[in-house]
Amino acid sequence: MRILSGVKATGRPHLGNYFGAIRQFLALQSQGEGFYFVADLHALDLVRDAETMRAYSLGVALDYLALGLDPERCTLFVQSQVPEVSELMWVLGSVCPMGQLQRAHGYKDAVAKAKEVDFGLVAYPVLMAADILLYRSNLVPVGKDQKQHLELTRDLAVKFNVTYCKDFDPETGAGGVLTLPEAHILEDVAVVPGTDGQKMSKSYDNTIPLFGTDKQVKKAIMRIVTDSTAVDEPKDPTACNVFALLGLFLTPAELGAVEASYRAGGTGYGAYKTRLLDAYHAHFDAARAKRAELEQNLDYVHDVLRRGAARARAVGGEVLGDVQRACGLR
Ligand code: ADP
Ligand code: TRP
Repeated sequence: MRILSGVKATGRPHLGNYFGAIRQFLALQSQGEGFYFVADLHALDLVRDAETMRAYSLGVALDYLALGLDPERCTLFVQSQVPEVSELMWVLGSVCPMGQLQRAHGYKDAVAKAKEVDFGLVAYPVLMAADILLYRSNLVPVGKDQKQHLELTRDLAVKFNVTYCKDFDPETGAGGVLTLPEAHILEDVAVVPGTDGQKMSKSYDNTIPLFGTDKQVKKAIMRIVTDSTAVDEPKDPTACNVFALLGLFLTPAELGAVEASYRAGGTGYGAYKTRLLDAYHAHFDAARAKRAELEQNLDYVHDVLRRGAARARAVGGEVLGDVQRACGLR
């Protein structure tokens, strides 16, 4: 089973990226052949400065390694180092109805906010489909917001197979050149709230960074918005962002105790924030130290990425060849 996913190189990762996506990559590592990449092409739309792009791109690779993706067990690479993906994107774009792209969340959001829409944004889901289909991926761990992209990916695989593969059976998926992937979405951490209670996102300036300095992390946690219930009054855990975030770290028993203390009153939100800060450190300090160490050893990191790209190109080149033969480009 091939498991594939990518993280966009658009900034520093946060708790939402970790609990919504990266944590699943780690858990799945032992269950199949992992392909994990840095989505730099997908970041071009937002990052318009070369130095920043290089920094973010390397940053995601460091994050992967620091958090525990093992380059001996999985293939780690940078998306743009596999040019085959852009070729496949064009082929898929040629069987992709424009209407489906106009219904994509990212496109609709941009239109609703009257942003200038460039072709890269419209084509974003097609490139993502190419990322997945190029390696005949079976399972794609992602956050819930990516579900629509996975559906499009399956639609495009079916469309291509129906169009070009005589023996393709849409019922079973057999006989096609492209493999239909499944999304792997963890429902219980579907959406991690940010410090303001909206979805945590780089775009909303409400993140708690995974690899910030102690000071940055503390500042982010202390600014989590809470209501004005007084210290001794009972508090509603279900309406509290701090409680929702604590739920990501604590065991059910620990969380039960915190819940009881909310309902009993007598503890202020500041104390719960401190508890969250402690939980954060217990969970991430080892990875933070590892990342600092890797930053001193960039030759190693670049070597991992070079080897990863070579492996990805070998696999992707074969699939692209099959695709090109199926549609008469070869
Ligand atoms: P951002 O919204 O900060 O730009 P990305 O779009 O780069 O984040 O998301 C990278 C991955 O992390 C995706 O799989 C996405 O579903 C997941 N993810 C991002 N934010 C959250 C969140 N708040 N809760 C759960 N998963 C998230
Ligand atoms: N679109 C994904 C996100 O915003 C990143 C991504 C690009 C991706 N290509 C992918 C995820 C392929 C899974 C598989 O998070």
